[in-house]
Amino acid sequence: MGLTEVVFAACAPGLEPALEREARLLGQPRCVAGGVEIEGGEGLVRRANLWLRTAGRVSLRLTELPLGTPKALADAVAAIDLRPYRRPGEPLELEILSRAPGFPERRLRPLLERALAPVAPADGRGTGPSLRLRISQGRFELGLDTSGEPLSRRGYRLEGSRAPLRETLAAGLLRLAGYDGGEPFWDPFCGSGTLAIEAAAMARRRAPGVARGFAFERWPCHDRVAWARELEVARAGERSAGAPPVGGSDLNAGALGTARRNARRAGVEVDWFRHDATAHWPGRPAAGLLASNLPFGKRVGERGELPRLYRAFGRALADLPGWRVAVLVPEGELGRELRWTAEESHRLSNGGLPCLLLVGRANH
Ligand SMILES: C[S@@+](CC[C@H](N)C(=O)[O-])C[C@H]1O[C@@H](n2cnc3c(N)ncnc32)[C@H](O)[C@@H]1O
Repeated sequence: MGLTEVVFAACAPGLEPALEREARLLGQPRCVAGGVEIEGGEGLVRRANLWLRTAGRVSLRLTELPLGTPKALADAVAAIDLRPYRRPGEPLELEILSRAPGFPERRLRPLLERALAPVAPADGRGTGPSLRLRISQGRFELGLDTSGEPLSRRGYRLEGSRAPLRETLAAGLLRLAGYDGGEPFWDPFCGSGTLAIEAAAMARRRAPGVARGFAFERWPCHDRVAWARELEVARAGERSAGAPPVGGSDLNAGALGTARRNARRAGVEVDWFRHDATAHWPGRPAAGLLASNLPFGKRVGERGELPRLYRAFGRALADLPGWRVAVLVPEGELGRELRWTAEESHRLSNGGLPCLLLVGRANH
């Protein structure tokens, strides 16, 4: 790797501004469709994987060129020195995303497989370096996956409850709501606890990637000493005491058990308790951020109950003067049942379902 590294951090649609804010701490970010491109110094690949909470995957930009012919493209790919990333004889995985006429995958694949040999079969899943070739708008871009397992897999959520949020979406949602770990937090519909655990990790200044492995650790050029130092600095920077309180509550005792075990595995402190989010709430010690993803009603029989639940929760917000509120609701009528006026709304997608993150103040 050279002194300047350019990576592409991919994220779920709508989270780009949140990811861009996180990326500013690592280098020069630029929002592009589906993520953020970051230019930074040596070690950017390591730091991006270790610190980005909102990214789903980080890939290293190997080359970007104007499009010529398929043969010229194959020659350019063959000229890339992959020895820093690949052990001798190690098969590559190759994904081709081509939207350019004249560059269909069936024509490109045999040319590129020859140029990059050995390449694992297109439908096979190996452990070798994974290359992604993207051809669009007259350019081609070759990127190398640096993450391996998606970054949402932090390693703590071995159990989910009903409809758990992806960890990266939970972190992005907190960022969009302006949360940085410096104030009290509460999720009154916590389910398996993802939002509260991500909030507690931010409050503790815990790096999201500190307890998992990454694809870049298998590269021949991987600098083990620098990586060990980076992990040590991240661990030493964690706040051991004095973090603002983080709470999670739910009506369902089973979900709370799951949340408690997930938090234990994540090594974070969360105050879990059983509570009906629509019931009168006498008040929290200090105001902060309340963030939840409300039930979406995907299950048969649940849908009819939801307008009532949303209205009752909207009324319960009056018990929380001073609190800021961020709720993820499905796009459409249901969110209006809260009868609460948000100051901002962000369009997101949760497991393919279009939804809105509404952000505002509790005392309306
Ligand atoms: C969409 S899930 C939340 C998922 C969670 N964000 C996660 O990552 O696992 C909604 C949760 O709301 C809870 N719930 C439904 N009605 C409730 C109520 N009146 N009070 C508190 N929790 C409620 C359900 O038990 C469920 O765990």
